[in-house]
Amino acid sequence: MVIRNWQVLCLVMIFVFSDGMLATAVFSRDASPAQVIFARKSNERELGGAYSELKDELKKKKPMQFLVGEYAGQILIWGQDQAHWYPDGSGPASGEDTNAKAEIWTEREEFDALYAAFLVEAEKLYELVDAKDSEALARQLDNTGKTCIACHERYKTRDEFEFTF
Ligand code: HEC
Repeated sequence: MVIRNWQVLCLVMIFVFSDGMLATAVFSRDASPAQVIFARKSNERELGGAYSELKDELKKKKPMQFLVGEYAGQILIWGQDQAHWYPDGSGPASGEDTNAKAEIWTEREEFDALYAAFLVEAEKLYELVDAKDSEALARQLDNTGKTCIACHERYKTRDEFEFTF
């Protein structure tokens, strides 16, 4: 990943530093399943927040380019971090409240393949930022969303607060 825009890099770094501290702390070896699941849900919500913000920004007549870069950067950074959010022992068998299906841990290769497909689209999204083409970005955000949905449909139980893409 090449970050060309220093403003975005700084924003992303502040963002990752503030929330990343929490994530690193709770994803340590000693974290309980409850802590891992709590952090994972809030991280997934951060991903959702960046997605919605970017979608809204791109609908504006003149999207703010630094915000577009920030949100696309957040999607990529959180997306990369997602590789650590589903450690062994953090499934429903832990007895904790989670919408992650048990199959994540029995079909790990398929889960990882859906994750990898998502990351490819998130990278393409970030690569598009510099071109400042809102329509192309909106299309790519949609493509990215489809890979989020593909994983959710297979490995996430639906709940009453279902995220809308
Ligand atoms: C590889 C699989 C996978 C991908 C890719 C993925 N998610 Fe998720 N997501 C999950 C699973 C599993 C859960 C349930 C986590 C839990 O309850 O412990 C979840 C939960 C969520 C939640 C609900 C969190 C809560 O409990 O409040 C949101 C919002 C969310 N994801 C947004 C997204 C967005 C937006 C993307 C893409 C930009 C995305 N996810 C990509 C697997 C994925």
